[in-house]
Amino acid sequence: MRVTIAGVELRSPVIAASGTFGYGVEFEDILSLDKIGAFVTKGLSAEPMAGNPSPRIIETASGMMNAIGLQNVGVRAFIEEKLPKIRQIRGAVCIANVFGYTVEDCIEVVRALDQADGIAMYELNASCPNTSHGGMVFGTDGMMLYDLVARIRRETQRPIMVKLSPNVTNIGQMARVAQDAGADAVSLVNTFLALSIDIETRKPRIANTTGGLSGPAIKPIAVRMVRETSRAVAIPVVGLGGIVCAEDAVEFMLAGATAVQVGTASYADPRAVEVIATGVRSWCRSHDVERVRDLTGAMLSA
Ligand SMILES: Cc1cc2nc3c(=O)[nH]c(=O)nc-3n(C[C@H](O)[C@H](O)[C@H](O)COP(=O)(O)O)c2cc1C
Repeated sequence: MRVTIAGVELRSPVIAASGTFGYGVEFEDILSLDKIGAFVTKGLSAEPMAGNPSPRIIETASGMMNAIGLQNVGVRAFIEEKLPKIRQIRGAVCIANVFGYTVEDCIEVVRALDQADGIAMYELNASCPNTSHGGMVFGTDGMMLYDLVARIRRETQRPIMVKLSPNVTNIGQMARVAQDAGADAVSLVNTFLALSIDIETRKPRIANTTGGLSGPAIKPIAVRMVRETSRAVAIPVVGLGGIVCAEDAVEFMLAGATAVQVGTASYADPRAVEVIATGVRSWCRSHDVERVRDLTGAMLSA
């Protein structure tokens, strides 16, 4: 079941996605963190953030919309309060998700995290649709994305995975920009920019007006984007978007993903990431797949 991303060996290709798994420690009593590949923390910013006003999460057909707005404890509280606990959990692999309104903000987060042990990799969030600066603004402009990744690359020896926005016309091109700027891996997709209106009040159902759509509704688009990306770059691609069962994870791997992440499914079942990791193992056994990595890009043409 082992896969390697940017030199980091994971015992399973199934990873818990950012923003849906707290800081990992909250899940310690719910599932076995040493049975999943890794977990990604909630986006960490230089200063604590309160996020957007409520309502900021709603259910939609086969999915959900959120506009949390990067609520988080801030990088210093993460290092002082969360990371010591994470380091004590045997077998847990922590990927720190990095967010900033500006490149300088992101650099500040990475500099702080670089001083601390217990982080296997950074996931650089260049794709959050729910903030007015940073996030998706970086991930939808090639020049800004290059600048962000290249400057973070100069700051750290740790592997960098760049999380890409699906709100672009050519995701392969954006992935190439990230690769050329020094990214070790890319992850995709973040949420799709969306709008839902309450027809009785005629107001948006989310206080932020727009939000990011996730869950099974986005899966076929995400699978298509993972395929396009894996053909455009040489670095590993981590796929996500609507994975709720082992078969979904296998589909992403066939499309070209080296590993996958599970997000919204954890809201329906907090044990989903472990259940899916175990399920992928069983699926491989029942389909005579000796090594899970043999699935990557093994899709056949029509
Ligand atoms: C409530 C919520 C909060 C999220 N917060 C973050 C975040 O802080 N950083 C990030 O990179 N992605 C964040 N995401 C995006 C997810 O990690 C994931 O990319 C997206 O939801 C698609 O996968 P899914 O359909 O499996 O949820 C968030 C998603 C949700 C639903």
